[in-house]
Amino acid sequence: MQTQAFNLAVIGLGYIGLPTAAIFAAKGMRVAGVDVKQSTVDAVNRGELPFVEPDMGVVVSGAVTLGNLVAMTEVPFADAYIIAVPTPLAESNGADLSYLSSAVEALAPKLRGGELVILESTSPPGTTERLEAELARARPDLWAAAAQGGAHVHVVHSPERVLPGRIMIEMATNDRVIGALTEEGGHRAKKLYEVICQGEILLTDSTTAEMTKLVENTFRDVNIAFANELSVICDRLGIDVWRLIELANHHPRVNVLRPGPGVGGHCIAVDPWFIVDSAPEESGLIRAAREVNDAKPHHVVSRVISLLGDRTDATVAVLGLTFKANIDDVRESPSVTIVQELARRLPQARILPVDPHVRTLPAKLASAGIDAMSSLDEALAAADAVLLLVDHDAFLDVGAAQLEGRLVIDTKGVWGTKRSEGALVHPILAAPGSVG
Ligand SMILES: NC(=O)c1ccc[n+]([C@@H]2O[C@H](COP(=O)([O-])OP(=O)(O)OC[C@H]3O[C@@H](n4cnc5c(N)ncnc54)[C@H](O)[C@@H]3O)[C@@H](O)[C@H]2O)c1
Repeated sequence: MQTQAFNLAVIGLGYIGLPTAAIFAAKGMRVAGVDVKQSTVDAVNRGELPFVEPDMGVVVSGAVTLGNLVAMTEVPFADAYIIAVPTPLAESNGADLSYLSSAVEALAPKLRGGELVILESTSPPGTTERLEAELARARPDLWAAAAQGGAHVHVVHSPERVLPGRIMIEMATNDRVIGALTEEGGHRAKKLYEVICQGEILLTDSTTAEMTKLVENTFRDVNIAFANELSVICDRLGIDVWRLIELANHHPRVNVLRPGPGVGGHCIAVDPWFIVDSAPEESGLIRAAREVNDAKPHHVVSRVISLLGDRTDATVAVLGLTFKANIDDVRESPSVTIVQELARRLPQARILPVDPHVRTLPAKLASAGIDAMSSLDEALAAADAVLLLVDHDAFLDVGAAQLEGRLVIDTKGVWGTKRSEGALVHPILAAPGSVG
C-alpha cells in the first residue's frame, strides 16, 4: 500500500532512469524510482549505484539520504511519470516494445486523471500514440470522464540524448525535444523539465520527436558507413584511406568521418532499423548504410586472414573489445564479432584479446574457445600479429619497439598517423588504410 505522495515516478532505473530520478530529487522533488529488478531497488535505497557513471554516486546517495528519492518495485501514485525502460532491437529488426507494454500495464491502474506520462525510451514513430491508446484501453473510465470535462491524462515523448560517461552534465545542459499529443501536455512537460534542464526546450508533435532521436543516430550511422565503404574501396585500390580522407577534408565543405572496424553500441547500430522498419520502401539508403557497417567486421577478419597468408597458427593480439574508446561497454561491439569470427576461421591461431576497460571475458568469446583476457604487455610480447580495434588511450602510446617485426593492422588509423610521422617502422605493416 503506497501512502506517500510523489511528485514524480521514474519507471526503469537504468543508465537513463536513475540519473533522471536522482537529478529531479536533488532539485527538491519527491521522486519514486521504480524497477522490476529487486537488486537495483535495494542498491538505490542504500544510496549505491547499480552501475558505473561518473559524478552520479554523490547525487543518488544525497537524494536518498534527504528522503527525496525512494526506490520500489511497484508503481506508486504520482503526479507525473517518466518511462525509461529498454526498447531493444527485436528479431525482426523492429523495436521490441514488450518492456514498455509491461510498464504501461503496471502504470495504468495507478492513474486517477490529470497525470502527465512521459515516454523517454527511444521509440519508433507512432509509439507515443500507441502508448496513449493502450492506457485508454486499460482505463476507459478515465478517458470517458475526460470527455465529460474531467482531467485528461497527458501523454508525451521526450527522447533522451545523453552520452554515457557525461550523463550528469548533459542531462542538465543538452537541449531537449518534447513531442506532445496535446498542447497542454507539451506545456506541462516543458514546465517539468525546466526544473532540471538549462538547455533549450523545443516543442513539437510526438511522431516528429520520436523521429528526431532516430534521425540523430541515423545521421551518424550513414556518415560512418560512407567512411567504412571508402576504406574497403581503398583496400581494393591500394590507397591509404586515412591520407585520402585527410586530403578530401581540406575542402571547405567536406568532412568525411573516420572509418573503423564497424559500428556498435545500443543506439547507432540499433535506431536506424526502427526507421527502416517503419518505412521499408522509402529507406533504402539507411538500410544500405546499416548493411555496410554490419559487414565491416567481416571485412576486417578477411583482411587479417589474407595478410597472415599461410601463417594460420599465428598468435594474434587483438587490442580493444568495447564498441568505442575509453568505456567498458561491449554491447553490439564489432570487436567482439571480429574476435569470435577470427577464432572460428583460424582454429589453429592463438587469439589474445586485450582490453583494460573490460574485466571479464565476454561470454560470447568464452564460448568461441578463447581462454582469457591478456595484459597488453603479455599480448604484445607473444604476438606475431597485432590487430588494433579500439583507440583506447592505453593503446595510443604503444611504441615502435613493441610492434617491431609484427604484422600490424590498425583499423582506427592511430598508429598510422605516427608511422607517417616516422615514429613507427615495421618490416610488415599493413597500411592502416588496408583494413581501416
Ligand atoms: N543508455 C544510453 O546511453 C541511452 C541514451 C539515450 C537513450 N536511451 C534509451 O533509453 C531507454 C532506457 O535505456 P537504458 O540505457 O537506461 O536501459 P537500461 O537497460 O540501463 O535500464 C533499463 C531499466 O529498466 C528496468 N525495467 C525493465 N522493464 C521494466 C518495467 N516493466 N518496469 C520497471 N523497470 C523495468 C530494467 O530492470 C533496467 O534497470 C532505452 O530506450 C534506450 O534506447 C539510452
